[in-house]
Amino acid sequence: MKLPDYTKAKNRKDKNNEVISFNIDKSLINKYKGKKFFLKTYGCQMNEHDSENIRALLLKLGFSETSDYKDSDLVLLNTCSIRENAHNKAFGMLGRLKNLKAKKKNLIIGLCGCMAQEKVVVDQILSKYKYINFVFGTHNIDHLPKLLDKSLTDNTQEIEVYSEEIALVEDMPIKRDTSYKAYVNIIYGCDKFCTYCIVPFTRGRQRSRKKEYILKEIEKLVQDGFKEVTLLGQNVNAYGKDLYDDYSFASLLEDVAKTNIARIRFVTSHPWDFTDEMINVISKYENIMPSVHLPVQSGSDRILKLMGRRYTKNEYLKLFRKLKKQIKNITISTDIIVGFPKEEEQDFLETLDLVRKCQFDNAFTFIYSNREGTAASKLKDETPLKEKEERLQRLNKLVNHYFLKNNEALIGKVEKVLVEGVSLKKKDHYFGYTEGNKLINFTGQNIKIGSIVKVKVLEAKTWSLDGEIYE
Ligand code: 5AD
Ligand code: SF4
Repeated sequence: MKLPDYTKAKNRKDKNNEVISFNIDKSLINKYKGKKFFLKTYGCQMNEHDSENIRALLLKLGFSETSDYKDSDLVLLNTCSIRENAHNKAFGMLGRLKNLKAKKKNLIIGLCGCMAQEKVVVDQILSKYKYINFVFGTHNIDHLPKLLDKSLTDNTQEIEVYSEEIALVEDMPIKRDTSYKAYVNIIYGCDKFCTYCIVPFTRGRQRSRKKEYILKEIEKLVQDGFKEVTLLGQNVNAYGKDLYDDYSFASLLEDVAKTNIARIRFVTSHPWDFTDEMINVISKYENIMPSVHLPVQSGSDRILKLMGRRYTKNEYLKLFRKLKKQIKNITISTDIIVGFPKEEEQDFLETLDLVRKCQFDNAFTFIYSNREGTAASKLKDETPLKEKEERLQRLNKLVNHYFLKNNEALIGKVEKVLVEGVSLKKKDHYFGYTEGNKLINFTGQNIKIGSIVKVKVLEAKTWSLDGEIYE
């Protein structure tokens, strides 16, 4: 048994960029043929991408996938820790699984992802959730076959969670969700330690992938006909800092642009290290999408300081305006937290003022959630939940107003759209995303999913556009 430990997780002393090869005991391949798995993913794109590796591992073991958990032999929950409600969802599911296992004794249950990295969660599993067969963390996904098999063979509860990151595995099997759009990890973990955030504990220290591996992966995706890559990291702007003296995220973006993949996106960017070099590269290459996710979190300097964000409201606005000026047709989205400890009405009004100035194209808004072990969890939080909820409502009303306003400005324009699907209910109705990352529903005929087409915008809604095929 190997249990999580936040003191070790906080350690940023020993750098570990070691790369090892994926290894699987040959006797496990297809050992579970005939059995079905149900994989539930909570949380961010990083988790969705991990699930693409997990899915491939389970297929290697011989499992096939089902979308009905009641019909499965193995349920695996890939969990998220970012806010309490993510926890609640996973624990709710564990409750349902307990009932199912009472009827279906051989049901195998596994838990992985960020919650597995939390000591409080693993302590609960050990004391209350004895019916969970195995648990592994974010640093040892490649150990899944071995742990699952050991738990079933020896009839034990297997818990293996590393708090300090171990080597990077470069050749993990992967079963991607689509054949035209791919996530590509470029940097793991985060060293920023924003005071509210659990990620530096659950995902470990910042480690960049070597550029050769990233470019090779993208070149292969191009060969295989993929149209879009999203470069993934908790903070992509920090790419390379732990690995190279003179190769930055801007250098990587430029090299990725030269692979001729049709579309490049990247998430997430911390405003603190968004460089002019990056802005130049984004504006220079047509295949780098003019769309940036730039979490601001708050508009109050006092709260930004307490959050450990390393910029002021004015510095954010300066960067925002520079991006708008230098990158043609750029859309900018953000994340905002309301109700951070000690946030007062005046601070919240600063956030509303920032929203009025930025008029974001999209914004993910949250009520602050206290995460045990983070620096902010030690701050006194005296604002009643009701007041926080009321702030969230006021904020949502304002951000929604600008989503609609920005969408209305697109009426009559022709947008390039990557077609992602067809409506099951309405004939000749498709949907996809514009270069600015706006969801658009449109009419047309015989359009190939995964192709890039031109669509004329006819109508605007708050969260989407309507249009028709242009050519
Ligand atoms: N409470 C509320 N929101 C949070 N986020 C991260 N941690 C917390 C927390 N403790 C939000 C931030 C971040 C996004 C991914 O989730 O806005 O940018
Ligand atoms: Fe969390 Fe993002 Fe801050 Fe890192 S940069 S600590 S992931 S909010």
